[in-house]
Amino acid sequence: MKHTLEVMISEAEINQALDKMAEQINRDYAGVDSLLVVGLLKGSVIVMSDLVRRLDGNVHLDFMTASSYGESTESSGDVKIVMDLARSIKNRHVLVVEDIIDTGRTLSKVLALLKSREPASLAIASFLDKPSRRLVDVEVKYVGVAIPDEFVVGYGLDYAEAYRQLPYIAKVIPAEE
Ligand code: XMP
Ligand code: MG
Repeated sequence: MKHTLEVMISEAEINQALDKMAEQINRDYAGVDSLLVVGLLKGSVIVMSDLVRRLDGNVHLDFMTASSYGESTESSGDVKIVMDLARSIKNRHVLVVEDIIDTGRTLSKVLALLKSREPASLAIASFLDKPSRRLVDVEVKYVGVAIPDEFVVGYGLDYAEAYRQLPYIAKVIPAEE
C-alpha cells in the first residue's frame, strides 16, 4: 500500500514519557532485591533498551516472542509463543515490557502463561496504549503515552517489518488513489 508518514510523538516527547515511566517503576520496585524485565520481541526492543537504562538496582533482562499479527495490521487473536524465555521466572519480580497494547489479546495470553509459572509479582509496562481498541481486559500498570485508534510505526513498531528503527512514532497515512 502506498502511504506517507506523519510524526505523532517526537523523540523529545518519547524521552519525557520514558523518564516518567522509569520514575514510577523505580519508586515501586525500590524495595525489591532484583527485577526481571521481560521484553516481547520484536516490537519492544527499542523501548526496552531505553527504559532499562533509566532503571535503578539489580535489573535482569529476558526476552520472549509471541506472534499474533503476521504481516497484517490486525491482531488475529491466535497468539503463539514463538520463542520462550531463557530462564525460570518462579519467585522473581517480573515486569513485562511491550511496545503497544491494542486489543489486549497478545498480552492477556502471555500474562496467563507467565502467571502459571508463579512469579513473585507480575506487572506490565507498555510504551503506547490504544485504550479505545481494548477487547480483553488487562491491567497495564505503566503507560508511556495513550493514543487514539491510529496505526503507528517507529520506535520498534513496524508496518510489514519496516520502520522499526525510526527514533519517533509516526502515523501511517494511506495515499490517495
Ligand atoms: P493486541 O491487539 O494483541 O496487539 O493488543 C498487540 C500487538 O499488536 C501490534 N500493534 C501494532 N503494531 N502499529 C504497529 O506497528 C500499531 O498501531 C499497532 N497496534 C498493535 C504490536 O505488535 C503489538 O505488540
Ligand atoms: Mg508487538
